[in-house]
Amino acid sequence: MLEIRNLTKSYGDILALDRFSLDLGKGEVLGLLGPNGAGKTTLISILAGTLADFSGTVTFQGRNLFADRALKNRLGIVPQDMAFYDELSAMDNLLFWGGLYDVPRAELKRRAAELLERVELAGRAKEPVKKFSGGMKRRLNTAIGLLHHPDLLLLDEPTVGIDVQAKVSILDIIRNAGASGTAVIFTTHQLAEVETTCSRIAIMDHGRILAQGTLDELVRIVGERDIVEITGEFAAGPFSEALQDIAGDGIELLSVADNLASLAVAATEQIPRIMDRLFRRKLAVTDLKIKSPNLETVFLKLTGRSLRD
Ligand SMILES: Nc1ncnc2c1ncn2[C@@H]1O[C@H](COP(=O)(O)OP(=O)(O)O)[C@@H](O)[C@H]1O
Ligand SMILES: [Mg+2]
Repeated sequence: MLEIRNLTKSYGDILALDRFSLDLGKGEVLGLLGPNGAGKTTLISILAGTLADFSGTVTFQGRNLFADRALKNRLGIVPQDMAFYDELSAMDNLLFWGGLYDVPRAELKRRAAELLERVELAGRAKEPVKKFSGGMKRRLNTAIGLLHHPDLLLLDEPTVGIDVQAKVSILDIIRNAGASGTAVIFTTHQLAEVETTCSRIAIMDHGRILAQGTLDELVRIVGERDIVEITGEFAAGPFSEALQDIAGDGIELLSVADNLASLAVAATEQIPRIMDRLFRRKLAVTDLKIKSPNLETVFLKLTGRSLRD
């Protein structure tokens, strides 16, 4: 239904999207997971038609998304920066934005009321938006994106800066949209969200997808190994050097930063060997945790960075 091919976008010297390609089917919910600066907003902005000067193609429902204006009506967009009329009520905002699409007025009203119910704002429908909290605004924004029953819903970090309840509500809306046949791409840098909400996860960094699949498929990238997370008083360089000659031999350095390193080991019997090398170099270890591989480990392995950076 959506085929993105080789989207490339630079801002001066910065390559924000680097031959980005992706396929999405009807009703699929794709979580696009990437650290700050990965290119998520750039991608959403290009698809939303708010960013020019790029190369590559996007085919949506068999047609060129950028050439066919009618296709734009099939997209629902929830940008990171919200646009409302603060003085208008939630309902009037919905009717205003919905009026930009070709939805008959009566149908629009019915739909607006139904969506306000779904985003748990029905009781506040008549209040001016300026009285709303950040979470309420975000929910209203999501409702606006769904007003015209889009076939593809794009949300850019829809859960940033809102309370837990609003977050749960937005993730529910995303899941429901997928279940009713709307394809969804939502960007986030929250691992837990994609684990619980998506049918597919794509990990992106430096403007391209590094890996994609279901959660299980992604976790298999790290394999049936244990993850050893070491905290201590060491710099990244000496730490890597200390383990240089045993790395590869059942031990893989997934990521090494100052004071924190993650390793994948074939067996926990490897741990004394690791500790011995660190001890000999006088690198102090203050904490050592053994974990099962999870999405975070995969992310570390692929990007070399923690999402919490
Ligand atoms: N308007 C802009 N001008 C210059 N550089 C930009 C602009 N917008 C984004 N960038 C750069 O492009 C890269 C991708 O940014 P962005 O798409 O916002 O990433 P994300 O949304 O994943 O944080 C970053 O290096 C960012 O600094
Ligand atoms: Mg962004």
